[in-house]
Amino acid sequence: MKITIVGTGYVGLVSAVGLAELGHRVFCVDTDPQKIEILKSGRATFYEPGLDKLLKKNLANRRLSFTVSLAQVIDQSEIIFICVGTPPQPDGSADLTYVKQVAASIQTLSKQGKIVVTKSTVPIGTGAMLEQILNKKPGRVFEAVSCPEFLREGQAVYDFFHPDRIVVGADKQSVGFKVINLFSAVKTHKMVTSRETAELIKYAANAFLATKISFINEISNVCEKTGADVEEVAKGMGLDKRINPYFLKAGIGYGGSCFPKDVRALRQLSGGNGYNFRLLKAVIEVNNKQRQLFFEKIKKVLGSLEGKKIGVLGLAFKGNTDDVRESAAVDLIKKLVKAKAKVSCFDPQAVANARLVLNGRIRYCANAYETMEQADALIIATEWPQFAKLDFKKVKKLLRQPIIFDGKNLLNHQLIKKAGFSYYSVGRS
Ligand code: UGA
Repeated sequence: MKITIVGTGYVGLVSAVGLAELGHRVFCVDTDPQKIEILKSGRATFYEPGLDKLLKKNLANRRLSFTVSLAQVIDQSEIIFICVGTPPQPDGSADLTYVKQVAASIQTLSKQGKIVVTKSTVPIGTGAMLEQILNKKPGRVFEAVSCPEFLREGQAVYDFFHPDRIVVGADKQSVGFKVINLFSAVKTHKMVTSRETAELIKYAANAFLATKISFINEISNVCEKTGADVEEVAKGMGLDKRINPYFLKAGIGYGGSCFPKDVRALRQLSGGNGYNFRLLKAVIEVNNKQRQLFFEKIKKVLGSLEGKKIGVLGLAFKGNTDDVRESAAVDLIKKLVKAKAKVSCFDPQAVANARLVLNGRIRYCANAYETMEQADALIIATEWPQFAKLDFKKVKKLLRQPIIFDGKNLLNHQLIKKAGFSYYSVGRS
């Protein structure tokens, strides 16, 4: 099948490369000429394990190409995917400007009717609204379809080929199955639903996962008051198949480009439809509070932070990504800098992106050990697996005092305490 993908951001590029790998011919369009040049040279514009390799392979076998001109490629394909951004507006609702602009361009440029699939996360009713824009003029019939994306950053390539499910929302079943068939080589549960249902599945899934995280973070706070251990509580809960062990890791709260935005958007769209989604208000409050509580824990141990030298490991919103959007690590560094601490930090991938959002005198180090030389304390703020594998004898020698704050419960607290560290984590004493 010939497919056009508009928007080569995270969702667009991974989907394009994945669909090409499945054997389709994929034309990618983006308005940013610089991005297009980089992609044409076979390099991804963000860090994602395994993506560069598949990008190069599918460019070489000519199943994938990149252009800034939608006009040039639009009539070569039967199906168009919209994968542009839906950034949050000040009230939390999703901004659909780019999605609407793409629909209007398709309407103007396309000679024939087509299936237009939205992969961007959009509010319920967007599919219906897009179909109106697309069918503004009679003569051609466009079908708007929703195919929400469930990829996790850092594991997106794996997730594309091994998804838990593929959901397609369409007005006509036959159209829905045409889109589902693009993924016929992928063995998983496949669902064709109404457009509205598909649109809501995406928000509901992200909001539920965020709720699990806020729930376990609340439990971690009860653990701190009672002497229970949140890691063991999570394990004990997760062994119940109805609960499962995933997304029960306590820490300094969720971040990223999806959970914070989507939880706010679902709350906003429920309110806009006359329903007060009380639970989500608490999920957001708990997440913000969790970041603050961890900062207060640091202050309680170290006293005034003014002039204190603090090493921070991690800038990305989670491990295996260079993305710092709504990162709890970045938020924490901002708080430390405001309290006049001297911050030295390291992240395996996210330094360049962090530099764009962090101000103040921050030292960016070439490796983890540099951050802790003569530091008053070390903070782990991102769950990069390699931070758990440091040489802790060396860490102890480098630190001025052996204090570790672990915002991701990454280390084995018994071992690290035995090694002579004062160790503070989340929900474990
Ligand atoms: C999330 C969803 O997991 C994907 O299914 C979805 O497609 C994606 O959003 C999206 O809407 O595009 P992602 O943002 O890549 O994926 O990251 P997650 O792995 O879900 O982690 C989100 C945040 O929650 C991170 O800050 C992570 O550190 C935190 N987290 C995760 C916890 O604090 N505890 C956990 O147990 C799990």
